Amino acid sequence: MSPKIAVLADRVADQIAAGEVVERPASVVKELVENALDAGAREVRVELEGGGRTLIRVSDDGSGMDRDDARLALTRHATSKITDASDLIGVATYGFRGEALPSIAAVSRFELETSADGKTGTHVRVAGGTVEGVDDAVRRQGTTVTVRALFFNLPARRKFLRAPATETRAAVEALTVLALARPDVAFTLSSDARALLDVPRVDRLIDRVHGLWGRDLADTLLPVEFREAALEVTGFAQRPSQAKPAGRKGYVFVRGRPIKDPFILRAAEAGYRSTVAPGDRPSLLLFLDLPGDAVDVNVHPAKLEARFRDKFFVEQVVQEAVRRSLVPLAAAAPIGAGGDAGPWAGLGGELAGGVPLELFPGNGGAAGATRGPELLQVFDSYILFQTDASVAIVDQHSAHERVLYEGVLQQLQGDGAPAQRLLLPLTLDFSPPELEAIDEHRELLRRVGFELEALSGRSVIVSTAPNPHPRFEAARCLQELVSDLAGGRFGGWANRLERFAATYACRAAIKAGHHLDPDEMRELVVRLLTATLPAHDVHGRPTIVQLPRAELERRFGRS
Ligand SMILES: Nc1ncnc2c1ncn2[C@@H]1O[C@H](COP(=O)(O)OP(=O)(O)OP(=O)(O)O)[C@@H](O)[C@H]1O
Ligand SMILES: [Mg+2]
Repeated sequence: MSPKIAVLADRVADQIAAGEVVERPASVVKELVENALDAGAREVRVELEGGGRTLIRVSDDGSGMDRDDARLALTRHATSKITDASDLIGVATYGFRGEALPSIAAVSRFELETSADGKTGTHVRVAGGTVEGVDDAVRRQGTTVTVRALFFNLPARRKFLRAPATETRAAVEALTVLALARPDVAFTLSSDARALLDVPRVDRLIDRVHGLWGRDLADTLLPVEFREAALEVTGFAQRPSQAKPAGRKGYVFVRGRPIKDPFILRAAEAGYRSTVAPGDRPSLLLFLDLPGDAVDVNVHPAKLEARFRDKFFVEQVVQEAVRRSLVPLAAAAPIGAGGDAGPWAGLGGELAGGVPLELFPGNGGAAGATRGPELLQVFDSYILFQTDASVAIVDQHSAHERVLYEGVLQQLQGDGAPAQRLLLPLTLDFSPPELEAIDEHRELLRRVGFELEALSGRSVIVSTAPNPHPRFEAARCLQELVSDLAGGRFGGWANRLERFAATYACRAAIKAGHHLDPDEMRELVVRLLTATLPAHDVHGRPTIVQLPRAELERRFGRS
């Protein structure tokens, strides 16, 4: 077999960002596992002792190396992955610098055992960068690298290593990231002989998520799948109602490579706008795929950053991709004859199953005029109805809040809503901070329908008011709204218009305890199901929950 490895010309080598390859045990794990993946491994095993201080061992069943390559692999800038600077554009392997092995071998007691054919093998021993021996070895095809006494010859660096538990955690995290990138490879990690990670080869990313973190997380994720021009965004975004202020998982992969990019995560979070409460951080696993010449992953010594040719475009597309994943209506397949079955059909995706009924007669499709399923209000708070495969339950306040929010946001951006002149103008008193809030939001208040005029002292005259629903109490809504504005409610919302819209929607919406007649219920449900982001209110709570028919059947012992 001819050697696969060639030494790069200095010129090329210089173009490759050099830097600190080995920072701590986790970076050794990252580099060695990346090498294993580049070598086509289907199974990678990581062993740690003493948090990686004592020992780090990575074994793979990849291509292995013949003796010449095994020697050359330890030479700086020796790589089998690129030969020319132009190969850097769109490089598909994790490695390309030819730096990792020599860097690691320079700061540890290092052993490489490898076989390219499963018959003849090579064992190389290096201490602090000096090759101490090259022997025969017997092993199956693949490679095992053992790194002992990391930084033994750099006492200052060794001193900076953290407690074993901390270093172990960082190493598990480094492996987790790569395990997400490659569900088709099996990974194990043991620390002092204790198994901390053990995931089999799987076909689907969601199965890998399940393997790493269990059902608890996997069940809260919505699929992301969106393409704009040459950029494809896939992965998972967490249901807004499950987002928590702490402990979220946020991972971005660009062309399969893990990238630390707070801007992309922020763009993704922007896609949640108005569906998660301020402060809550949804988990995100995003895979960006775009042509190699549109992104440079070579700008960071540890290859953790990507430089996009058009960053703004990437952020916009990521935001849109996440936003769309939150719209089960759009995700649902049309059900019933004639294709689109109207708004009810939207109860697919997250809500599983749709209703093959036309809501509005003559709106194409179903013959016979039917008005959609029967609606039932319970506890004067919830609206129940049957879908194809479930009982759907709508929270009337949350639903109306979502519907109002989307409508009001448009009014605020335009001329405003037609207001109703009050027969008897209201006179209301406010506190000084509230009067200030009124002053500050006067134009926005006008656009939603409140026309206000200072009377004297603390009194304000209200001459017009909106009319979002028949039981609307203008005075109470205005008082609550102004008090919220003065008190900084929704303060976490960056955008002033959105903050105002959310506050107004929350205060103006139908409340729990309001009795609704069938037409009001129908109007609300239709407007909800045709909203842009119907499944969540502006606090991130669900507007609809559903009881699957299968669940009923299970409980009644029918399945
Ligand atoms: N586990 C492995 N199996 C097979 N070949 C390997 C393995 N690890 C390293 N090699 C070979 O050794 C070479 C040097 O590895 P090294 O990690 O130092 O550089 P690289 O992966 O090419 O680039 P980078 O420094 O960016 O990681 C690789 O190019 C590869 O040919
Ligand atoms: Mg490498």
